[in-house]
Parts: sequence; structure tokens; C-alpha cells
Amino acid sequence: AKTHHHEFVVQATKVKRLCKTHNSITVNGMLPGPTLEVNDGDTLVVKVVNRARYNVTIHWHGVRQMRTGWADGPEFVTQCPIRPGGSYTYRFTIQGQVGTLWWHAHSSWVRATVYGALIIRPREGSSYPFSKQPKRETPIILGEWWDGNPIDVVREATRTGAAPNISDAYTINGQPGDLYNCSSKDTTIVPIDSGETNLLRVINAALNQPLFFTVANHKFTVVGADASYLKPFTTSVIVLGPGQTTDVLISGDQLPGRYYMAARAYQSAQNAPFDNTTTTAILEYKSALCPVKCTSKPFMPPLPAYNDTATVTAFSGSLKSPRKVEVPTDIDENLFFTVGLGLNNCPKNFRARRCQGPNGTRFTASMNNVSFVFPSSISLLQAYQQNVPGVFTTDFPAKPPVKFDYTGNVSRSLFQPVPATKLYKLKYGSRVQIVLQDTSIVTPENHPIHLHGYDFYIIAEGFGNFNPKTDKSKFNLVDPPLRNTVGVPVNGWAVIRFVADNPGVWIMHCHLDVHITWGLAMAFLVEDGIGELESLESPPVDLPPPPHDKQNKHH
Ligand code: C2O
Repeated sequence: AKTHHHEFVVQATKVKRLCKTHNSITVNGMLPGPTLEVNDGDTLVVKVVNRARYNVTIHWHGVRQMRTGWADGPEFVTQCPIRPGGSYTYRFTIQGQVGTLWWHAHSSWVRATVYGALIIRPREGSSYPFSKQPKRETPIILGEWWDGNPIDVVREATRTGAAPNISDAYTINGQPGDLYNCSSKDTTIVPIDSGETNLLRVINAALNQPLFFTVANHKFTVVGADASYLKPFTTSVIVLGPGQTTDVLISGDQLPGRYYMAARAYQSAQNAPFDNTTTTAILEYKSALCPVKCTSKPFMPPLPAYNDTATVTAFSGSLKSPRKVEVPTDIDENLFFTVGLGLNNCPKNFRARRCQGPNGTRFTASMNNVSFVFPSSISLLQAYQQNVPGVFTTDFPAKPPVKFDYTGNVSRSLFQPVPATKLYKLKYGSRVQIVLQDTSIVTPENHPIHLHGYDFYIIAEGFGNFNPKTDKSKFNLVDPPLRNTVGVPVNGWAVIRFVADNPGVWIMHCHLDVHITWGLAMAFLVEDGIGELESLESPPVDLPPPPHDKQNKHH
């Protein structure tokens, strides 16, 4: 196995999009940032140097980080931010994962422009278990672009309690594509060879939007998701929530020419404002015929309607592991977590400035009625390891405080989330099942729930209220898919299982960034075991120090 060394310089960079030049935060001046390519078993050493004016951390989304929790990256969860002028080196080894993951900033909304692909090939000397080896491999990173500074967009929203501005474009590999103003000549071109197979590594890096993705005239063979193989199946459209990746094979079996690939919103929260525009890239045949044919204008492939939940359900229902897998049974921790929005009343003196949400309230979000508050003086992992009191409590509830009808038919006074930093403690090695239930409060919505430090089996999904008696019959304990992010169906539920075999503090959150901002998160504290493999490594010496505690200065 190899060790790969990289330097990521986070810096302000002039970027031209949608007819205007912006000063954006990038890594090494690139948007998207650099693609990392490794084999399973390799080690990555990435020195992140912060030359921007904002705090930053980098998260390696989906990397299991076995015993290397210090390298996971979420701000104030496993580390304090890398402040302007600072640096931090992330070290971790890929263990038993193959496919596509990605990396992104995990601090405020910096990830809008700080993200890139992480490609993991099979161990050296082995090949893909596909019927045909791909000739080319191309990352396809779907993103969102704001004309304004995304960090200002979210600051404004938290100050007022209102919903933030929606983005101004979707992008493919950083480019809006030729349906947007001033974007045509920079449209992303994806090469393909006649008669050959391409592997497209599709990543949804958008902040707040699940997306449909398709290519004109071609079919996808889905072979993997979130760096685990899937039983191959054919489809003309795939759907990804933010955070999710999907690997598809596509063959160059059409007339040489140019074909649109396109992505558009799956708007699961059906009464919320959203961008209904389409981002495009061009699949271009590399062949002798192409210089003539390739001048013809591509045509737009059909995409599902923005509210086509049936297509989403059919797609997620097609995901299976390639063979029988070992799903944890004899569950030790049977958890039921609600996920959803809320509206909190504002203190009277704040009303004008800080309550510009619906009817003079503030938007909020929660799991089991707890709205997660990130610490600001030290990270949770440091606080745990150094026994710093007062940073968190370990009484995150195993069940919601009240049980009600989770189909929106409920008074919102039942559910005004309580802000707190609560963790749920798991014994090392325990077998965990979590039912994730959409509350449908404020709006029924498909929440992409992401767990750090783990992959989990998605053993069932359904609509309405989860029924522990009858829905057991829906559990797939044979060949469920292994993922790190599950789209909890709109107005429905999903059941996941995993073994708590990775010590540390691991956040679980909705990957719609607006929902993290509102508190749709919690964290697991997986106890340090006794054996060498059960214990967290000690912190790296260059771990960013806690920011100066302002309160102490008063004394
Ligand atoms: Cu890609 Cu905490 O997330």
C-alpha cells in the first residue's frame, strides 16, 4: 500500500460564473478542488493550510476513519477550526472501501466552494468485479452556486430566523452549463469512446438539494454507492441526496456525437421555494466520425418532475448488496429518532430583528425534539478525551419525548425543539438499530441523514408512521445496501443497522446544510474500548487549539 501526500491551500480565488467575477474560497485555486486518487489500503496525508479569511476544516465524507477520529473533520465535533493562518495535517487509511467518496469543508457553508472527489480503486493487483472493465473514469460532481457569498447567506438567515436564499444555479464539475447565461463556453465535456465502457462517479455536493441525473440516449448500469458495491441494475435516471455518491457504467453504444447529461431538483419539501433550472454537461464521443456529427446541437433528455417521489422510491428500492451480507442481529440498542423541522417562538425583545420566519417565529430543526448546538470553546472529542466538563451531556433520548401522528397532522406546539448539546453513548461493539422517522412538521421532507465514522445497512424504508409490529416484515436482512447517507422518504421512515466498532465522537446529521444550521443533528459517543483495536489513537500534535475563551477574559 502507498502513502499519498497532498497540500490543500484554502484561499480566496477569483472565479467567474453567471456573468460575474467573484472572490470565492477554493482549495489550490480550483473549483471543484483537487481529485484524490487512491487504492483501498492506502494512506492519505493531507496538509491543509488556511490562507482564507474564514475558519475551515475538511471532512473526508464516508471514510470510515477506524480509530482515527481526529482526522474526521467536522468543526467543534472532532477538532477546533483551522483559523486563518493556521494549518492541520489529516492522516488516515482507507480500509475496505472501494468506489467514490468525496471531501468537503465542514464549517459554516464553506463547502459551497470547498469540495472535491475522492476516488478509491480496488487494492493494488485486483480489478473491479464488473463484467467489463471501464476504459475511462470520470467524476461528475453536482453542486450549487450562489451569486452572493454563501457564508453571508447563512449568517443572514441565522440572524433573522428566516429561510436562507436559495442558490442561483446548479453545477456539474463546477460549471452551470449552457442553459445558463454566460456559461456556455465553459460547459463541462465528458469524453467517451465508441464501443467502450465509462465509469461515471456521480457525487451530490449540493448544499440543500436532492437531484435527479440522466444522460440522453444512454442507460446507466448502477454498480456502487457510497464506496460499496451494489448488485448491478439498469436505469435511465439516478437520484442522489446531498452527500450521496453513485457509480454507474455507461457504454459508448450510440451514434458518435454529443449528448446532454443533465441534473435537476427532486424537490421533496413540496411547499418550499427552490431552483427548478437544469444544469448540463456534454457527453462527447471520441471517434473519427465525431468532428462532423459533434457540431450538431444535443437534445435535452427527459427528467422526472420535481415532485416525482415514485421515481425516488423505485430507485432506492433497487439498491441491493451484490450478495448475502452479515446484517447485525440481536440488537443491543433499539433507537427511534425523529427528524424534522420546527418553528420556535422568539423572546419578545428579539421579535423584530430575529423572528422573520413564518408568523413571527424562527425556523429550527431537531432530532427527538433536541436542536443540536455545536460547542464553541472546544471540540466534543477533545472534551471527551480530556474530561472537560460542561461541554456536552450524554442524555440524548433513545425515543422522542412524545409520540404522535408523524404525517403532519399535529399542532406545532407539540414540537418546539429544545436547544442542547446532547450525545448518545454507545458501548464499543454494540449492535445498533435506528428507526429514522420524518415528523412532517412544517413540511414533509426527504432528509438525507448522514452518519460519520460508519457505514450502515438500510434494511427498510416506508411511508407514514413506522409500525414496529407490522413493518418488521419489510426488513431485508439478506442483501441490503451499505451506505453512509440515507434519504429518509418524504413523509416516511427508514431503518438502519450497524455495529459500533469505531471509538470516538461521531455526528449524525441531515446533509441539507440549512437543516444543520437549524439543529438537525446529534452525535454518538462510542466508548473507547480496552484492546488496541478498540481504542482511539492519541491526538496529533498539530490539532488546532481551542479558540480563546472570551468569557475567561472578563474575569
Ligand atoms: Cu458530508 Cu457531516 O458531512
